[in-house]
Amino acid sequence: MNMMKNKLNDLELKKIEEEKKNYEDNKSISIEALKIVQSSRGWVSDELITEISKILNISESQLEEIATFYSQIYRKPVGYNIIKYCDSVVCYMMGSDNIKCKLENILKIKIGQTTNDNKFTLLPISCLGNCDKAPVIMINNKTYSNIKISYIPILLEKY
Ligand code: FES
Repeated sequence: MNMMKNKLNDLELKKIEEEKKNYEDNKSISIEALKIVQSSRGWVSDELITEISKILNISESQLEEIATFYSQIYRKPVGYNIIKYCDSVVCYMMGSDNIKCKLENILKIKIGQTTNDNKFTLLPISCLGNCDKAPVIMINNKTYSNIKISYIPILLEKY
């Protein structure tokens, strides 16, 4: 196993130190530190939770709690593209469950899983604030509104 994978690199350490100057509370610094690690590695492993907790001087369980609460932090490897479908009430009423099923069928994965080619991970997300354009999905940072089932294969082709 590559041990460096389990250690914060110099750039990550430098960025985390900078964030320490920007925030006073541990929670905000923790979120920023988790985001820094995720942006360079795609997700945050248990080993890196340990590393971050040491340099921020907070307990691993506290940091784990913050990482779990903050749904944009991934605690296991994810695919190159992340598809999030809104499973909140308005989207649900507008057919988000059918959207989810179509995505699962095309990608041959279930919620929380990643395709064999590592291209897509499928995750649920709470209301994206676009309820008037439900159902809504996000792929990476782009939001797609009024999604129709027939459009999904065409949409995935773009990625
Ligand atoms: S319920 Fe889906 S965007 Fe609000």
